[in-house]
Amino acid sequence: IEAALAGGPLRGRRVVVTSGPTHEPIDPVRYIANRSSGAQGTSIARALAGLGAEVVFVTGPATVPPPAGVEVVRVETAREMLEAVQAALPADAAVFAAAVADWRVANAAGQKMKKDGTGLAPALEFAENPDILATVAGMSEGRPRLVVGFAAETHDVEAHARAKRDRKACDWIVANDVSPATGIMGGAENEVTLITAEGAETWPRLSKDEVAGRLAQRIAEALA
Ligand code: CTP
Ligand code: CA
Repeated sequence: IEAALAGGPLRGRRVVVTSGPTHEPIDPVRYIANRSSGAQGTSIARALAGLGAEVVFVTGPATVPPPAGVEVVRVETAREMLEAVQAALPADAAVFAAAVADWRVANAAGQKMKKDGTGLAPALEFAENPDILATVAGMSEGRPRLVVGFAAETHDVEAHARAKRDRKACDWIVANDVSPATGIMGGAENEVTLITAEGAETWPRLSKDEVAGRLAQRIAEALA
């Protein structure tokens, strides 16, 4: 294994990978979050490390354990994730596989919220979280050479993913259809379309490890 690492095509390359959900507190005992096991991001980090990359793995509270052989940075909220990613730069590439909560609770309580006996529910106010992918892709100085985002969509997958690539100014988008009928969400397999400047490529339905392996290989070619 040591020998394989030493000779891998990504040897000497540094890659930042985000993974898992973020948790946004409502009060000290409650939070809102996206559904994400962290499985795909974990597989990607493992595959990149397997090709010899120095990987910084910035993860929210995921279900699956982080891979071996990477530097793990654990965060909870989207704002913490952005800070951790910025602290991990500069890097040759960045892969944003995290399911970041789009909103945080603006009026989060410092103490546990209690039922007040009126039967009325508390009103939560939301504020938009920073877009980590767009922030890094838009860096005027020190931008990673290859910035890869994900797009989990339930309909018009390719059109939404292309629009996302343009809007966020990233190099690639790995798009997938997470509508309930596909059974992708929470499963061991994934079926993705890779959107690049050259166009769109749909890969067959593969295990998340195989998707990760292919993506890592493509990243190695792009950085070669
Ligand atoms: N992303 C991020 N920071 C955010 C939101 C999203 O870094 N605050 C990243 C995700 O990790 C993913 C990509 O942006 O790589 C696309 O996420 P997605 O939720 O599909 O895009 P959004 O711009 O949030 O659009 P939508 O309204 O469809 O959720
Ligand atoms: Ca989102």
